[in-house]
Amino acid sequence: MPFQPPLPAEYHNLEPDEIAQRVREHKDRFGRRLVILGHHYQRDDIIQFADFTGDSLKLSQIAAQQKGVEYVVFCGVHFMAESADILTDDSVTVILPDLSAGCSMADMAAIDQVEEAWDMLTAATPETIIPITYVNSAASVKAFCGGHLGACCTSSNARMILEWAFRQGRKVLFLPDQHLGRNTAYALGTPLDDMVVYDPHAAHGGLTREQVQAARVILWKGHCSVHQLFTAAQCDAVRAADPDVQIVVHPECDWSVVQKADLAGSTEYIIRTVNDAPPGSKWAIGTEINLVERLAKQHPDKQIRSLAPIQCLCTTMYRISPPHLLWTLDNLADGRVVNPIRVDAKTRHLAVVALQRMLANVSAQPVAAK
Ligand code: 13P
Ligand code: SF4
Repeated sequence: MPFQPPLPAEYHNLEPDEIAQRVREHKDRFGRRLVILGHHYQRDDIIQFADFTGDSLKLSQIAAQQKGVEYVVFCGVHFMAESADILTDDSVTVILPDLSAGCSMADMAAIDQVEEAWDMLTAATPETIIPITYVNSAASVKAFCGGHLGACCTSSNARMILEWAFRQGRKVLFLPDQHLGRNTAYALGTPLDDMVVYDPHAAHGGLTREQVQAARVILWKGHCSVHQLFTAAQCDAVRAADPDVQIVVHPECDWSVVQKADLAGSTEYIIRTVNDAPPGSKWAIGTEINLVERLAKQHPDKQIRSLAPIQCLCTTMYRISPPHLLWTLDNLADGRVVNPIRVDAKTRHLAVVALQRMLANVSAQPVAAK
């Protein structure tokens, strides 16, 4: 994870109102030269400053559309800022207010592990393998997929991308999130028995040659530390307490949770589902707590709560704080760019191929609406 130096002392004890006023002054002064993007898992005290909010897909699309903008301040995590850098013109500088805002799932697939896996898998089978990476991955992994006939996907379009991949070849390597891969492939009719899990920490990925040859989908052994906190038992408990409650979860949750849920889809899909629900409806939501609490506040006429009785917080998203945002903008105003996210030209060249293949399949769909 890149090193984030501590903020200067002057940012430690600022009152929220003073921060808000100074951030707004910067925004007014920069005008259209600056755009602030906020992922749905960001805290409310950051979302208030976002020019655009969205899920990973929507924010990638918005980043790609920015013309005439000089700075994109990305309030999200590192891989999202990298995607924005890849998709924007060279004249645009993408900034991540806290460099330690990474994603533990993305860190579960390092490029050398992916290359080692590829050597093992392609030696085990003569069939073409199409590598699909969830956008929650490093730019180098995206570039690998772009260079090997593969593509990226987000939780919004995983279904379409997997369908696309199956049209290119019979076998797919899906990384780094085994759950999104399993949930999506299963929803498309692939039996669980046709999927195997490649463990980058085991010899030969923990797979025999025969297992690789028989598999239709090879899932990377990665997961989201936040969404793994949701369980099938929680679904049972919520329903036992109130049979009228509906359960909607993110497809990074375990397969057993998605099977028990009424609906599963990206953050944007979850928001749309709740927005469209009638007053009085009751929802238990399996995703990051900042989004669940925001939805509960926005819809006082509906009963909305987390599926889990414990706090499911993405601690790295949370690192983007108002003092970090202000520090970033103060420096920009003084002509200093702090925390630029720059993907080198060679990586960018192939990563853009994977991202463009994804953006060509833009229509967002739920992973498993039942
Ligand atoms: P979305 O694509 O639904 O925004 O999800 C991104 C993410 O990191 C979820 O954990
Ligand atoms: Fe990564 Fe999970 Fe946080 Fe999303 S919620 S950014 S997958 S750790």
